[in-house]
Amino acid sequence: MIEITNKLYYVGVNDRNKEKFEGLWPLPNGVSYNSYLIDDEKVVLIDTVQVDFFVQFIENIRDVIGDRKIDYLVIHHMEPDHSGGLALLKQYYPDIKVIGNKKTFDLLSGFYGIKENTIEVKNGEVMEMGNHSLQFFMTPMVHWPETMMTLYKGKESALFSGDGFGCFGALNGGIIDKDINTERSWNEMIRYYSNIVGKYGTPVQNALKKLAGVHFDYICSTHGPVWNKYVDKVVDMYDKMSKYETEPGLVICYGTMYGNTERAAEHIARAASLAGVKNILMYNVSKTHHSYLLRDIFRFKGLIVGAPTYNNGLYHEMEVLLSEIANRDIKNHYIGWFGSYGWASRAVTAIGEWNENHGHFEKVGEPVEMRQALSQETKEECWRLGREMAAKLLAED
Ligand code: FEO
Repeated sequence: MIEITNKLYYVGVNDRNKEKFEGLWPLPNGVSYNSYLIDDEKVVLIDTVQVDFFVQFIENIRDVIGDRKIDYLVIHHMEPDHSGGLALLKQYYPDIKVIGNKKTFDLLSGFYGIKENTIEVKNGEVMEMGNHSLQFFMTPMVHWPETMMTLYKGKESALFSGDGFGCFGALNGGIIDKDINTERSWNEMIRYYSNIVGKYGTPVQNALKKLAGVHFDYICSTHGPVWNKYVDKVVDMYDKMSKYETEPGLVICYGTMYGNTERAAEHIARAASLAGVKNILMYNVSKTHHSYLLRDIFRFKGLIVGAPTYNNGLYHEMEVLLSEIANRDIKNHYIGWFGSYGWASRAVTAIGEWNENHGHFEKVGEPVEMRQALSQETKEECWRLGREMAAKLLAED
């Protein structure tokens, strides 16, 4: 039994087996599906878990309440990693009442055919549960339309935040941040945000505004540690990320087949480094999953991309990355680019067209185009591009 505070218990589970979250995002350290249980005059369950883990989940619940009934289930987010256990839960607790909002119930009906025993709540509404109360905040599009957050007010207070403030990585015994080494969490939180929530900067800002002035001692997200010691830090991180604020630094992403385009990337990086840029991250787009590239692109202001021409188009893995960047409406970046071809030029033009139509980043320097292999002239152009990007970044440092 894991008590977080004042009759609030952790009843979540870990998934250490799934390769990719949503079938898309690598999970080298697994992921947790967090659920919480409030044992008051009314028993309240906060979200469920992915259905595969139901046996463990029900055992966790019964460890806390034994044979008592659950009165309410509050659903903060209907994505099946959290709502998946719902249909089975109804078999154990047929009288349970589901608390959500209008959009929750539309999804609840579609996913699970559940239409009865529901209680619709509105923004700001309060429900008394005994020695504590729950107050509901509508936070749509963080990152689905039905998302909401709930403030638990007892001796201490906790915010149930759905996916908000969550991060990848299973919980290895410890649940609350003050009991664990959180070093791994920060990068995984940025990766989670950039991969899953990153498109919805404005709704996240709206949610933060709604919560401004609301005090909570704990943030209980649906993934990753319970925040207590680092509540202010994670709120600040979310504020910065959702404003697309960046740090000075340069991410260079390149595709390469036989190393020629990679050599161009090396010259650009060397030039930027000699000009004084310290944070430089380089990725071969075929080797490192774009999940990690998105994380660093979100973080750092400078981006340089380069790729070969392939089948008279852009190298596929670079197309994937550019599409993922555009899909997240990432703002407030500088971009430079380069590319190569064997006999028919396309890559450099394609990246330029992408930036014109989708990226909308501020262009820095002249794109470098390389025919077949690096010449003295293209090498010098790479150096110029690296230096010009460095000058822009350092001017803001
Ligand atoms: Fe953790 Fe959006 O589900």
